[in-house]
Amino acid sequence: MCGIVGYFGKRKAAEILVDGLRRMEYRGYDSAGVACLFDTRIDVVKTPGKIKDLRARVDAADSVAMREAVQGIGHTRWATHGPPNEINAHPHLDASGRFALVHNGIIENYKEIKSGLAQHGIQCVSDTDTEVLVQLVAYCYQGSLERAVSEALKKVKGTYGIVVMSDHEPGKLVTARCGSPIVIGIGKDETIIASDASAIIPHTRDAVYLEDYDMAVVTSGGVEMFDLQHAPVNREVTAMDWDEDAAEKGEYAHFMLKEMFEQPDAIRNAIRGRLDFEMGTAILSGLDFSPRDAAMISRVLVVGCGTSMHAGMVGEYAFEELAGIPSEVEQAAEFRYRNPIITPTDLVLAISQSGETADTLAAVREAKHKGAVVAGICNVVGSTIARETGRGVYLHAGPEIGVASTKAFTCQVAVMLMMALKVARTRRLARHDGEELCRWIDRLPELAEAVLRQNDAIKAVAKKYARCDNAFFIGRGYLFPVALEGALKLKEISYIHAEGYHAAELKHGPIALLEEKTPVVALLNNVPGKDKTLGNAEECKARKAPVIAVVSAGDEGVADGFDDVIVVPDCPACIAPVPTAIALQLLAYHVAAERGCEIDQPRNLAKSVTVE
Ligand code: M6R
Repeated sequence: MCGIVGYFGKRKAAEILVDGLRRMEYRGYDSAGVACLFDTRIDVVKTPGKIKDLRARVDAADSVAMREAVQGIGHTRWATHGPPNEINAHPHLDASGRFALVHNGIIENYKEIKSGLAQHGIQCVSDTDTEVLVQLVAYCYQGSLERAVSEALKKVKGTYGIVVMSDHEPGKLVTARCGSPIVIGIGKDETIIASDASAIIPHTRDAVYLEDYDMAVVTSGGVEMFDLQHAPVNREVTAMDWDEDAAEKGEYAHFMLKEMFEQPDAIRNAIRGRLDFEMGTAILSGLDFSPRDAAMISRVLVVGCGTSMHAGMVGEYAFEELAGIPSEVEQAAEFRYRNPIITPTDLVLAISQSGETADTLAAVREAKHKGAVVAGICNVVGSTIARETGRGVYLHAGPEIGVASTKAFTCQVAVMLMMALKVARTRRLARHDGEELCRWIDRLPELAEAVLRQNDAIKAVAKKYARCDNAFFIGRGYLFPVALEGALKLKEISYIHAEGYHAAELKHGPIALLEEKTPVVALLNNVPGKDKTLGNAEECKARKAPVIAVVSAGDEGVADGFDDVIVVPDCPACIAPVPTAIALQLLAYHVAAERGCEIDQPRNLAKSVTVE
């Protein structure tokens, strides 16, 4: 979703701001802009479209501020209120042009504030909720920018991550957060504020994460933090451990391709030091569970969205099969609003690559409020869900830039299996069965490599089906969530209408849609349920739908009579989601590439969904 960057230091602000926005492009956006303050003048350059368009406009601008200023703010906007045009793009100025503001989040009571401002003769020119906020800050201004910001924020309902500056007080940036992340990078003689660590990493590794209702004032004297009542708050400076190169595409055509090929290493990092072969269990210190704590858990509830929810479904099966604990997965938005019944012995797992997904975060807060034990499974270190859960397991998958989640999914599955193993060993899972599972989890990187070696074969299959309009994915057991994930990958990057179904469910309606041009990807791995899914695939074939059979190595005969085959390594059912999902990621990628789609930033999508 939207990206924010702010800079104050000694270098040329416009360059740093535009580069910071470029690094956050992956979040998804449809317009962008920067404002620079030089001397006592704020100049703004904005444009619908891409960062390269913004860069061209900044370079061409007849503006001393764009060339010389050492202070500024920038933004990539993912439209919510009003279309993605220049007027609605951020930064927004107040009516006097003396205050500039960038904002992530949603001001829910903006209409009310807007009509209040109108009564004082202040008119907004854009459709956005954000402009209302900068007008309000200007209205509240009585000589102190931070006081004006806090006064304005006290009147606001909704979510925000903001950076504000004013030519009344050059040399000062004010930032605040409620629900939308703000990270402050502390460099030598400079400060970079951003909604995402990727804009900060090239400049410094030392960062402070604001918490909800925190404000910070950045001046040449450093960074001071307060709450909205101006009482000082203290937030620790932490070291960000992400490698700058990890956020670059390198030799790959797309981040998605790079990230798919990183999966063997990403999974290695996710499981490193976490398998105890001797005791047949997992060591997950971040969970902070003694065996006794683990034995007390009566139910596991997994909350998440999209791909993360699909990984959670794999976890659900593993907790039930291995640990014998009742387990459920719920879409986080549904969980947060349906007043869920929670007991103190429930373990709620919040699963999120970004750690910032608004609905998952709200589900965490609801579960904590109801007294559950809550843990996070996040990739982004220091993200809001990771901090608010206070306990959990990081994926260590490295930055995932492509909007289509790939390496996060396989690492989430690996982490889910280790969690289930750990809890299972305090219950019914025998040591030798635990050892066996450790060995299989340890082999996940090798299984991922085996699938990636099939890249050319999968690409050939993809080419055959790249022009279809509809597709189905069917599976059962551990492969049911993989069917859902395969369909999600295909639809989000290729824009082909794809549906994932439990193989048994097809007959209950969707089979009516099958015809010669609608391929069905049937997950026929050699695991329990294969024969039943095989029957369902035959039913599809009988309706003339082409069938792409995904089968286990050594069991290729299963694909006889079907149209195409993708071979994945033979492995136990709980392990199969990882190699199978990688095969489906490659399939989706090559279909999208063949169709000429914008793979890393699909239309309408954002990497991190920070509004509900
Ligand atoms: O950051 P999260 O894992 O919480 O994100 C959840 C979903 O928005 C995300 O998985 C989305 O479905 C991906 N675009 C799928 O590829």
